[in-house]
Amino acid sequence: MRLVLLGAPGSGKGTQAQRMQARHGVPQVSTGDLLREAVAADTELGRAAKAVMDAGQLVDDRTMLGIIRERLARPDAKRGFILDGFPRNTSQANSLDALLASLKLKLDRVVLMDVDFDILMKRLTGRRTCSTTGAVLNIYFSSPTELEACRKAGGELLQRDDDNEATIRNRLQVYERQTAPLVDYYTKKGLLETVPATGEVDAVYSRLKSAVGLK
Ligand code: AP5
Repeated sequence: MRLVLLGAPGSGKGTQAQRMQARHGVPQVSTGDLLREAVAADTELGRAAKAVMDAGQLVDDRTMLGIIRERLARPDAKRGFILDGFPRNTSQANSLDALLASLKLKLDRVVLMDVDFDILMKRLTGRRTCSTTGAVLNIYFSSPTELEACRKAGGELLQRDDDNEATIRNRLQVYERQTAPLVDYYTKKGLLETVPATGEVDAVYSRLKSAVGLK
């Protein structure tokens, strides 16, 4: 299974990719997570990326392609992968095509996680990540049991630096201008499936599985 999850910030790409990884063993490849790891480790890449991410803009294509090339070369990606957050514009999509062609691989599907824009702000301002389990949660939408499970595991609910209203607005604009054109790009290639991504997380997961042909 080689899959791209496409969708606006907050559409649930990370939430669904984590589930698919846990239940079907297909590794989630999140460029946002890889960048945040570099920021946390205070590497040269992390220091350069931090200001761009805090502004809600895209890190340059050359850097991102380098990150993806290195990640897809790791052994676990031989089983397939779920790309979450890459590609982000037409240039990255072209580069991904070329990289996969050089590896004699093809994408199976591109899934657009479709959510009305007015829901995204609440999802993003309410998002928290559990410091011990890494679970992506939400103070408005997660159940008390899910939130409590993090505290019981000794974790704290952390908020991402870019989940403030001003940065979220920029990220949504960047998505509309630069990433949304990929819907056409992948439709023309006959790869795009659209999944309505509102409602319960489990219900969205069932729709996603059907869209990619998993039982
Ligand atoms: P990245 O980390 O990729 O962020 P994003 O695309 O903005 O996506 P998000 O992680 O915000 O949202 P998501 O769709 O994963 O939603 P989630 O599942 O968490 O990128 C961050 C930054 O890194 C970028 O701005 C850029 O600077 C840089 N970057 C990354 N990739 C790049 C690239 N390729 N090129 C250049 N720069 C790049 O869900 C959101 C919330 O909603 C959570 O709280 C969750 O619990 C909740 N939720 C999920 N599903 C549901 C549901 N069904 N009902 C209710 N709540 C739900």
